[in-house]
Amino acid sequence: MRIVLLGAPGSGKGTQAKLLIEKYKIPQISTGDLLRAEVAAGSELGKRAKAAMDAGSLVTDDVVLGMIQNRLAKPDAKSGFILDGFPRNIPQAQALDAMLARLGQPLQLALLVDVDKDVLMKRITGRRTCSKAECGAIYNIYFSPPKVQNKCDKCGASLSHRSDDNEATVGKRLEVYESQTSPLVAYYKAQGKLRTVKGEGPMPVIFKNMCDIIETQIRPLAAVMGRIDAVAAARERAAAKAKAKEAAAARAAAKAAKAKAAAASKPKTKLATPAKKPAKPVKAAKKPAKPAKKAVKAKPKAKPKAKKAK
Ligand code: AP5
Repeated sequence: MRIVLLGAPGSGKGTQAKLLIEKYKIPQISTGDLLRAEVAAGSELGKRAKAAMDAGSLVTDDVVLGMIQNRLAKPDAKSGFILDGFPRNIPQAQALDAMLARLGQPLQLALLVDVDKDVLMKRITGRRTCSKAECGAIYNIYFSPPKVQNKCDKCGASLSHRSDDNEATVGKRLEVYESQTSPLVAYYKAQGKLRTVKGEGPMPVIFKNMCDIIETQIRPLAAVMGRIDAVAAARERAAAKAKAKEAAAARAAAKAAKAKAAAASKPKTKLATPAKKPAKPVKAAKKPAKPAKKAVKAKPKAKPKAKKAK
């Protein structure tokens, strides 16, 4: 299952991706999370990315594409993935298509989480995230607060407020989304891969609607692909069996030829060959063959007419 989640900042891609990975047992690949991990680790890549992230702009394509290529090469991505926050512009989408074409695993679905602009600001500024990277649970002080203030319900770790989740940066992020990311809607529509889900209302309802789309869009295709694969596998097995049979026949023929050659090259010694058993006398037929009942009578030849005496 290979899916891209599209949507404005704060539309709920990350929240829904966490539910989808649990249901479908495939990894969520979030370029935002990968970049934040690099920033936290203080890596060279993180240092390059930080300024752009704090300003609400996009990190350069070469940095993001290198990161995605490495991540897609990991074994857990072989059975599928949910891309969250990538691609972010047309060149990234084209690069992704090329990467997946090389792997023979094209994208199956681009799912747009559609949320009204007015809702986004409150969602983003109210977001709090579990500081433990392996947990990463997402809360919102307005819509889905934790039971104990500033503590993760799941693991008890403290919650953090993203440095780019302030009003000034969010404004810029929304602008960047409109100008650079929203053209991807038309890009995937043209490929026949775009589906849209309304991203407002209770989270479980949105999740159910997303699963329904995934099931109808991808599962039937997966079933057909499964049948095609089964036929191809059966054909391969039959070809391998025929090849093995041919090889065995060739080996037997070579062995026989070798034995014949060895026999021919042996010096001929005059050994008395054992006398052959006298051939059994052929038994006389018990009954003489019956003559054919109706002997075809030969027509008496017409007598030549005597020449008239002149
Ligand atoms: P990134 O981390 O990808 O941020 P984003 O795309 O701006 O998306 P968000 O994480 O803000 O939103 P989301 O849709 O995941 O919403 P969430 O589920 O958390 O990117 C950060 C930065 O990294 C970028 O600005 C850029 O600089 C850089 N970057 C990343 N990828 C890049 C790329 N490919 N190329 C270049 N640069 C890149 O939900 C938000 C809040 O809403 C939460 O509090 C949640 O609890 C709440 N919520 C969710 N659903 C509901 C609901 N139904 N009702 C009420 N509240 C809800």
